[in-house]
Amino acid sequence: MVGSLNVDLVVSAGRWPDPGETLSAGSGVAILPGGKGLNQAGAAARAGAAVSLVGRIGSDALAGVLRGALADEGLDGRWVEADPEAGTGVALIRVGPKGENAILVVPGANGALSGAQAERAAEAIAAARVLLLQGEVPLAASLRAAQIGRAAGTAVVWNPAPAPSPGPETERLLALADWVLLNEAEVAALGGASGEEGARALAPRCGGRVVVTLGAEGALLVGSPDAPARRWRAHPVPVADTVGAGDAFAGALAAALAADRDPERAVREAMAAGALACTRPGGLPSMPRREEILRLADRG
Ligand code: RIB
Repeated sequence: MVGSLNVDLVVSAGRWPDPGETLSAGSGVAILPGGKGLNQAGAAARAGAAVSLVGRIGSDALAGVLRGALADEGLDGRWVEADPEAGTGVALIRVGPKGENAILVVPGANGALSGAQAERAAEAIAAARVLLLQGEVPLAASLRAAQIGRAAGTAVVWNPAPAPSPGPETERLLALADWVLLNEAEVAALGGASGEEGARALAPRCGGRVVVTLGAEGALLVGSPDAPARRWRAHPVPVADTVGAGDAFAGALAAALAADRDPERAVREAMAAGALACTRPGGLPSMPRREEILRLADRG
């Protein structure tokens, strides 16, 4: 896993304040470990995988929250480096009354993760069965990691969240990815169309397997140019908040692929994990464990 680590400052509020306005949001601030890289690493570990995380944090007080989370989740954090200058990444998260979220990320040290750092972690990347990447660290670092993984026979799974700008580096990373996982906004940004149409536009530009998560509508998998897309309905669950649901999906999918599940079964387990994460507040703390994922996935 190569990706971001953030400290999430989570507040429940009906809306952000307008310019010049001060708004009081009553229920307190939760300070939680997060970031798409750490969330997905934790999700994969809770789903049963042994996980190393390559990432970058600051040398400040917030870094302690993330070091603690790495240890608590049983993640191998030897390749998480402390930047001497940039601060730890922070995400300001507003959770609305229906559990929907809006996130403002200050990348800090995540923005200094480089291709050279990926090279320093080459041993871990090459030893992994699956390399999972997101979009919160510089594309050059993800690209170098994918090249190292590809050369070693590691399966590359890319969750371009948030979606990068279209361009040559994006195309090069797509071409190295065996799987691409996107939500509706991301498939529109990279595939130029929504849902299945966007996934079909992307499939020939990557290793061929494109999964689109559709929120309450479920998910679809385009696995071959000739076959119809495979679709699944979402598990109906009570929603506490949707923070980290996509990360639960990606981490559980990577864990299932590392355990040699077939593609459709892997997506079913990922869907179960995403649904379960919605039932609890927060990002990393909401990630489900293997037994509950299997129980829900087995229900169909
Ligand atoms: O996907 C949720 C994550 O996005 C949060 O944990 C936050 O840190 C942002 O990176």
